[in-house]
Amino acid sequence: MTLAEQIDAQIRTTGPMSLSTYMGLCLGHPKHGYYAAGRPIGAKGDFITAPEISQMFGELIGFFIVNLWQQMNQPPSFTLLELGPGRGTLMQDALRAASKADGFENALHLQLFESNANLRAEQEKRLGKYNPYWSDEIDTVSEDPIFVIANEFFDALPIKQFVHTDDGWHERLIGLVEGQRAFGLSPTPIAESAAPPEVRGAYAGEVLELGTAAVDAMQRVARKVALQGGGIIAIDYGYARTQTGETLQAVKDHAFADPLEAPGEADLSSHVNFGVLAAAAKATGLAVAPLTDQGELLLRLGIGERAKALARANPAEAANIARAVERLTSPAQMGTLFKALCAHSPGLKPAGF
Ligand SMILES: C[S@@+](CC[C@H](N)C(=O)[O-])C[C@H]1O[C@@H](n2cnc3c(N)ncnc32)[C@H](O)[C@@H]1O
Repeated sequence: MTLAEQIDAQIRTTGPMSLSTYMGLCLGHPKHGYYAAGRPIGAKGDFITAPEISQMFGELIGFFIVNLWQQMNQPPSFTLLELGPGRGTLMQDALRAASKADGFENALHLQLFESNANLRAEQEKRLGKYNPYWSDEIDTVSEDPIFVIANEFFDALPIKQFVHTDDGWHERLIGLVEGQRAFGLSPTPIAESAAPPEVRGAYAGEVLELGTAAVDAMQRVARKVALQGGGIIAIDYGYARTQTGETLQAVKDHAFADPLEAPGEADLSSHVNFGVLAAAAKATGLAVAPLTDQGELLLRLGIGERAKALARANPAEAANIARAVERLTSPAQMGTLFKALCAHSPGLKPAGF
């Protein structure tokens, strides 16, 4: 049975399903889910991410982590955990750069959290020399200080959507209309008190998205970091505080697609609500740096200087390197759409924020 057939059968049996259930199946179904088996990332995949654009992205994240480690007086043993490491490119570039710091590689325990078997194999290829450990749980890490990296991880987690009508917020559900999957609304509104205060007074038709899976993931890693010391850097497309607006999108073969059309075959994602992630981290006792645009962060971490050094070493590549800097930092491209959140042990001063 295809995933589409399974989803339709489930709707016929138990009624319309929540968007988060639908996304959970499309992305995470153990056999047919988009992130269970496919090859989503890269020029041949459905989309390209920042570390795949240029080695500079991972290298600068590597320097960022070294700097935090040094501020903590270089603990002789620490865990570096990456959530959703994709092809392992970011971590490979980060560790090549970070290993130049005396003692860093010896102190490193690399942990990867990844659901896709093909991507795990690619990570093994690129990162095997660091003896990574893949955990099935997001928070099963050692007792040491922890540094967490998450690039385009939180946007890949299921969300719920609600639509405001005259009698309140109704959850958006996926049902079948004449045999075709279609969006509809739950007949019963949620309690007014269950909606975030920021969206009180919304107009009819406004859409609210709640990323409860992202908040849960942040809570779990932040609790560990708060207890053991360290920091979290999360980079993604998103917004600073709770607001209305629909951001769910499906991407297939580098183009937008209908999220209901081919379950498991398109990437489904949504913009990240950094406001609720920051609040979740703060609630564990971590400090949170002001949310920073990706472009600004990379410039402050020295992407300009790094680009010059790379171009000097390889003049034939100078134009490509300049294009990559533009793509990663320009407000017209990824520079302001993508934002970086850093939650860290109080007293640390994360570089670039
Ligand atoms: C959009 S990709 C980003 C990959 C990589 N960080 C990059 O920047 O190229 C999302 C990553 O998160 C992983 N992922 C998505 N949902 C996951 C889940 N529920 N558990 C573990 N990994 C997940 C995907 O397999 C993939 O590696």
